[in-house]
Amino acid sequence: MAESMMGLKRTHRCTELSEANIGETVTVMGWVQRSRNKGGIIFTDLRDRSGILQIIFEDKDIGSEGFDKAYKLRSEFVIAVVGRVEKRAGDANKALKTGTIEVRATELRILSEAETPPFPIEADSKTKEELRLKYRYLDLRRPDIQKNIILRSRIVNVIRNYFMNEGFLEIETPILQKSTPEGARDYLVPSRIHPGNFYALPQSPQLFKQLLMCSGYDRYFQVAKCFRDEDLRADRQPEFTQIDLEMSFVDVDDVIAVNEGAIAKVFKEVLDIDVSLPIRRMTWQEAMDRFGSDKPDMRFGMELTDVSDVVKGCGFGVFTGALENGGTVRGINVKGQAEMPRKKIDALVDHAKGCGAKGLAYLCVLPDGTYKSSFAKFMSEDELKNLVSAMSGEPGDLLLFAADKKNIVWNVLGALRLEIAKTYDLIPEGEFNFLWVTEFPLLEWSEEENRYKAMHHPFTMPMDEDIQYLDSDPGRVRAKAYDIVLNGTELGGGSVRIHQSDIQEKMFEILGFEKEDAYTRFGFLLNAFKYGVPPHAGLAYGLDRLVMLMVGAESIREVMAFPKVKDASDLMSEAPNVVDDKQLEELGIMIDPKALQNEGEDTDTQ
Ligand code: AMO
Ligand code: AMP
Repeated sequence: MAESMMGLKRTHRCTELSEANIGETVTVMGWVQRSRNKGGIIFTDLRDRSGILQIIFEDKDIGSEGFDKAYKLRSEFVIAVVGRVEKRAGDANKALKTGTIEVRATELRILSEAETPPFPIEADSKTKEELRLKYRYLDLRRPDIQKNIILRSRIVNVIRNYFMNEGFLEIETPILQKSTPEGARDYLVPSRIHPGNFYALPQSPQLFKQLLMCSGYDRYFQVAKCFRDEDLRADRQPEFTQIDLEMSFVDVDDVIAVNEGAIAKVFKEVLDIDVSLPIRRMTWQEAMDRFGSDKPDMRFGMELTDVSDVVKGCGFGVFTGALENGGTVRGINVKGQAEMPRKKIDALVDHAKGCGAKGLAYLCVLPDGTYKSSFAKFMSEDELKNLVSAMSGEPGDLLLFAADKKNIVWNVLGALRLEIAKTYDLIPEGEFNFLWVTEFPLLEWSEEENRYKAMHHPFTMPMDEDIQYLDSDPGRVRAKAYDIVLNGTELGGGSVRIHQSDIQEKMFEILGFEKEDAYTRFGFLLNAFKYGVPPHAGLAYGLDRLVMLMVGAESIREVMAFPKVKDASDLMSEAPNVVDDKQLEELGIMIDPKALQNEGEDTDTQ
């Protein structure tokens, strides 16, 4: 029995009512949170996106027919209620915004009945995420998710207004693009009109925003959907949103300044938090040396110390061997954990091995000043003393060392630092710690492909003072590239772009592209550059990550209305899915039966 709402018009959302409305007749509509009959009086909690309001049904106000109807109310029924706002007769409910009032119903309409939902619609649900995502439309009714989605909308709105006020134009770029592989794997869309040809979904609007600069739209931004076919994690989805921007006639400092303004604005307006400007900057080199990460979480210490010089020539072959192979020995000091049980230390060793370490050497400085260590027996008393002192080790400290190539040591100790901080609760809550990481290397060597790859992308400008090394020592060239990091998460990244054709050609040469190859892939951009290109630079934020950190969620899935799970499927709509043979025929596509057998092999599991 579904009634019409004809003749009724909603006057308020539930929590728009307060004691100021006492005495007014109002019409509210929403979902029944719960309804209970207390001997002739029915109390119903009505819920909409704003919150909860208590409705009271009594025979004397609504008549016996209305009362019978109220008697039938069950959770998640959709109803309309006309009634009078009153001061709550019983005790105020402090947990509710509307806890001091109630609406005494004079009319009730059941707009829709509801089956019992597969899980309760309430905050802090213990329901398994798989079930929540299968019924995402119900999950989205829960107040904690609603809060995230509503805040996300506000964040986008503030950002949009900020950039509009700063003279940026919002311009859309195409979703159906040409595939220009150099980055993550593309999602491809087959063309019906051009059988055998494919569009790619954009990994970012990068090339088009650079074209817009060539066309004179000197400040561009977009809330842009991006698609990357890569392994998923808590902060990675195949389909995500960037706040993407590009500016002409600017250098690094200009981009940073306008974005610091954006960050300060959004934190002030949405969370009432003052971000102190300017945001701290650190070079990539310093970040790696001190934290073993290009996105250091600076909310706690435990920095890396290079002890290569101290252990040179010592008796421990693991250390000296690594140094002889051109490697390094570095350590972290875990304060006060000298008495960590052996099992836990072994777990750290395993964690280190999982990050590519051959092992992890440890030294516990026990409270009585003696040592317990995996390598002390190989070192003299003096060597140990010097090592402990280089690590600022005091009685009670646990010292962990990795010896290997520099990259591996950074990775291992950077990861251990985070793992230990999480395990031992060293990360203060409620802090927003921003950092610009600057001067990234332009290139990174790919062992797999035996060539240099662009660390950011092939259009990133080398630092002026390093251009001279492009030929002789490309690996040492730093780029005008910058990332904005918040609490150890990469929130956004960008760079100044190459606008000089000679530098761009050199870059392609270093990346191993033949000139023709570069033109086949990026010809439209390179051609555009021939007709007058302004110096330009830009940046893109991961909006989902920004919202996740602002609301304090554990995963970007909690701030996206319809996210996908780890194997990139949507549990609710069951995408991806097979299509009709006729559709495939039109596209000239045949499915390789071998591919069907291998389904799912390329993805990591949940
Ligand atoms: P980049 O590849 O660094 O730069 O991406 C910018 C930001 O987008 C977010 N992000 C993601 N968020 C969720 N899921 C993903 N799979 C995902 N991948 C990236 C991150 C990241 O910092 N065109 C350049 C920007 C520029 O140079 O202007 C770009 O896309 O927060
Ligand atoms: P081994 O002599 O191989 O038994 O190693 C002695 C200690 O050194 C053990 O605690 C190992 O975990 C540790 N170890 C081995 N390789 C490394 C390495 N590359 N870096 C740091 N510690 C290591």
